[in-house]
Amino acid sequence: QQVMNVGLLGFGTVGTGVLEIIEQHQSKLAHQIGAEVRVKKVLVSNLDKERGDLVNKDQITDNIDDILQDDEIDVVVEVMGGIEQARDYMKQALLNGKHVVTANKDVMALYGSELLQTANDKHCDLFYEASVAGGIPILRTIVEGLASDRITKIMGIVNGTTNYILTKMSKEGRLYDEVLQEAQALGYAEADPTADVEGLDAARKIAILGTLGFSMNLDLDDVSVSGITDITSQDLAYCQQLGYTMKLVGIANRIDDKVEVSVQPTLVPHSHPLASVDDEFNAVYVYGEAVGETMFYGPGAGKLPTATAVVSDLVEVLKNKRLGVNGNSAIIPQHDKKLKTPDE
Ligand code: NDP
Ligand code: HSE
Repeated sequence: QQVMNVGLLGFGTVGTGVLEIIEQHQSKLAHQIGAEVRVKKVLVSNLDKERGDLVNKDQITDNIDDILQDDEIDVVVEVMGGIEQARDYMKQALLNGKHVVTANKDVMALYGSELLQTANDKHCDLFYEASVAGGIPILRTIVEGLASDRITKIMGIVNGTTNYILTKMSKEGRLYDEVLQEAQALGYAEADPTADVEGLDAARKIAILGTLGFSMNLDLDDVSVSGITDITSQDLAYCQQLGYTMKLVGIANRIDDKVEVSVQPTLVPHSHPLASVDDEFNAVYVYGEAVGETMFYGPGAGKLPTATAVVSDLVEVLKNKRLGVNGNSAIIPQHDKKLKTPDE
């Protein structure tokens, strides 16, 4: 049986989930792809933290070279977060011929095309399903499932933390600060939750969705963004009385050869399916000219849902490796040069 050695960058909320899922599903993975997945090394920043039983001391390191320079490591799973360092580690991993799986929307929204190009040049896979809408396999759905259609609108609740905050403030009358702390404790929020509450996290995700859905290069500057920091419980109560629920909604809309992308608090009528997407759940609505309306729903943040997407990407890498077809064929957008962003 083939062994696939993994170097795991990060052992926080998502990293521990990845190890748990690999442990729990090892026999299924072996059956599905005839390979054992072995996490050989785990990169952390603080060697003194208590790590529980999932890893032993020999696996833990704070030296990235223990992973990047280890020829036995086939795949690097980046779940440490941050931008420049994570990008640098992913790039080096690809240049060293290692496949990469990441949950990092910050890096993919900013440097996705550069990293995907490097992956392609090196005949490596770079998959990032977990970067958008946690447990919903929305990237593959757009790129593969709807490949034969022309997508004209993508709209969604794509940030679990803000949806959790708005739900609890609106339905339980709770205070913003208290609920934000709860979302942090539950592992939904980013290490620094500013990007969540100011709408940047959702903006990165809608940029990734638009890039894939419309086959163009959308980046953060193309997205008009406003978050939820100014929303009060009173605002939410008024909305309810008027028959609306307030949600932070990301929209990417294609009108002829123009594309408009935004993230903003939006009044959603109670009768609309997005109005009943509560707590940390996400939903992505996709309109295709042929298929019409589709909607995908599921947990958008948290340990196991996110880790499921990461491990599914690992399975994809393994399958590609077995078939000898590595090189991102699934998740590289094809560029439609006719389409213009609002500033062009
Ligand atoms: P955490 O903060 O819980 O964990 C981060 C881990 O990475 C920790 O183990 C930390 O080490 C390690 N780490 C951070 N910086 C460094 C560094 N410079 N060098 C070495 N190790 C480092 O983050 P999450 O697990 O919540 O998120 C990880 C990534 O997944 C982020 O990109 C996030 O956006 C993304 N994501 C998260 C989701 C979620 O629900 N939490 C959902 C979807 C995506 P130490 O333990 O020593 O502190
Ligand atoms: N902080 C993010 C959220 C994690 O709340 O949606 C999932 O990407």
